[in-house]
Amino acid sequence: MSVIEDIAVSEQQVLVTGGSNGIGRAVVQALCSAGHRVALTYRSDSASADAVVKQCSGLATAHHLDLASRSAPKELIDRLEQDGPVVGLVNNAGMQSSSLLAMTSDTNWDQMIDINLSGAFRCCRAVLPFMVRRRGGAIVNISSLGAERGIAGQAGYAASKAGLLAMTRVLAREMGRRGIRVNSVIPGFVETGLTAALPESARATLRAAECLPAGTTANSVADAVAFLLSDRASSITGESLHVDAGASC
Ligand SMILES: NC(=O)c1ccc[n+]([C@@H]2O[C@H](COP(=O)([O-])OP(=O)(O)OC[C@H]3O[C@@H](n4cnc5c(N)ncnc54)[C@H](OP(=O)(O)O)[C@@H]3O)[C@@H](O)[C@H]2O)c1
Repeated sequence: MSVIEDIAVSEQQVLVTGGSNGIGRAVVQALCSAGHRVALTYRSDSASADAVVKQCSGLATAHHLDLASRSAPKELIDRLEQDGPVVGLVNNAGMQSSSLLAMTSDTNWDQMIDINLSGAFRCCRAVLPFMVRRRGGAIVNISSLGAERGIAGQAGYAASKAGLLAMTRVLAREMGRRGIRVNSVIPGFVETGLTAALPESARATLRAAECLPAGTTANSVADAVAFLLSDRASSITGESLHVDAGASC
């Protein structure tokens, strides 16, 4: 984790949105295994969030967050800051639904942008005043290959994830002089709740492009996130790191 030198490491924490399941859960576990404090969020699955907290032997706390609420990110981050500085933010929570663009309702489009892109925007906006004051911090946004490739049925999802890549570059430029790094990770296909409903043909298409037969695991995405948050990545900002078993090469 990117450590702020004049604050005890034991007080510093990383906020991982959507840390109750899938990739987010792996990120929480990777950070806690390395001895970092983590605040993870869940929206509906408090049982899974509690299970992750238990596994993390006192280093993780679980918090409800629905990114559909405009005020919730600031309320949560203000509350967390009273308990210890939030020096890292992982904008991981996200949703996906498939429909051909011509059949996509306004409601569905708006929801995709609101949760996946505007939610991350509001989390960044809420944490930045604290990070700027301390002149340090690191943010990682979880995007998707859909941001770069035309996958039928994914217009809203792809637009939200492409927006995250653009926001990452702008924020890196705005915040570099203030000691804050901002990067993205672009995972390939990972078996999680989000992808469980994909038809076999869609999985086959997504996996066909991979160079590595084992594909992409949530743990390998988590390791990349942990690296980008850490001081080992101190010269890296505005970057998008593919963790996709070579699918995009
Ligand atoms: N899996 C893949 O192949 C893949 C590939 C590329 C990118 N990604 C991205 O990786 C991220 C994690 O995906 P995943 O596959 O791990 O999905 P997942 O297993 O479905 O987990 C999604 C997480 O986001 C939370 N969440 C969902 N809607 C939310 C909302 N409205 N407000 C707050 N939290 C919400 C969920 O909380 P609850 O469970 O409590 O509802 C859960 O913790 C997403 O941004 C996704 O787009 C995934």
